[in-house]
Amino acid sequence: MKILVTGGLGYIGSHTVVELQSEGFEVVIIDDLSNASEKVLDGIEAITHKRPIFEKLDLKSKIGVTDFFKRHKDIGGVIHFAAYKAVGESVNNPLMYYENNINSLVYLLQEMAQLDKKNFIFSSSCTVYGQADKLPITEDAPVKPAESPYGNTKQIGEEIIRDTCRVDQDFKSIALRYFNPIGAHPSAEIGELPIGVPQNLVPYITQTAIGIREQLSVFGNDYPTPDGTCIRDYIHVVDLAKAHVVALNRLLGNKNEANFEVFNLGTGKGSSVLEAIKSFEKVSGTKLNYKIVGRREGDVTAAYAETTKANTILGWKTKSSLDDAMASAWRWEQRIRK
Ligand code: UD1
Repeated sequence: MKILVTGGLGYIGSHTVVELQSEGFEVVIIDDLSNASEKVLDGIEAITHKRPIFEKLDLKSKIGVTDFFKRHKDIGGVIHFAAYKAVGESVNNPLMYYENNINSLVYLLQEMAQLDKKNFIFSSSCTVYGQADKLPITEDAPVKPAESPYGNTKQIGEEIIRDTCRVDQDFKSIALRYFNPIGAHPSAEIGELPIGVPQNLVPYITQTAIGIREQLSVFGNDYPTPDGTCIRDYIHVVDLAKAHVVALNRLLGNKNEANFEVFNLGTGKGSSVLEAIKSFEKVSGTKLNYKIVGRREGDVTAAYAETTKANTILGWKTKSSLDDAMASAWRWEQRIRK
């Protein structure tokens, strides 16, 4: 069966393409290459011995999206990763984020309405919960006012899909709310490739360890947590990628209980920034140069997932530990800097 993966050359997208191909799906990737390289196709091919079909396309082009679906009427499912994701950039350039993340979603859904099979998996984020009142965070925790235009595009995105599913019962969709994806494929053929200075913790750690960055700044140690640093739920990107295949198979097998469902994707275990650093130091055998600085605006104190719904209803569970994920991130960083 043919599956469209938008943003399939990106970090989570490329790992998901690998898992889809390993399960025998035929993958078509759309990517505008705004934050990814065509070389990722080589990495996917090296792992799976199969090169996915790739079309460079900007989903903001309604004509382009219409034309694509005219040529691919046999698509059995769409996994939609393509989106801008830098929180700070979205604060400074909100319209760019709304234009890209919302228009692309609407155009895709409009074209999918013409398909025989309307199966849609959406990349959402734990950012929709903000600072949740209760931990671990369940899927029915209230969605909090978004901290950034980026976060808002995830909330609005979910609403757009929910409304679409309400009026068209043939539409089936699952929104996957990711906690903090980290790590790389164990082969080190694909991984995270941030452009410029990384905003996220793990690429900043690995780039510091390899000598590209001088020092990691730990944003605050005065949070009400055991060691004072923020707590997150770091999930290995391969575990996360596999969840997409499970979710897709749920829709393809008509096993979904409603035509719009939401699942948290996390490990269920919270780790502090200092614990993440310790894990990295242990698996890499290096000492990380870091210093405690002031808090970063917009950071929540703690966020980790209640995973019961994904474990029981989706039948999916993470396999890798924080150490495994850190080790894979480090292998990847070393490989790309050779
Ligand atoms: C952030 C976004 C989230 C988004 C995700 C996408 C915010 C508030 N959240 O998640 O909405 O879905 O990125 O990638 O921006 N840290 C440091 N030093 C660093 C970088 C990070 O101490 O140089 C700390 C942060 O304070 C945080 C933790 O590491 O406690 C994780 O940060 P990060 O990797 O940026 O992820 P989130 O902020 O959780």
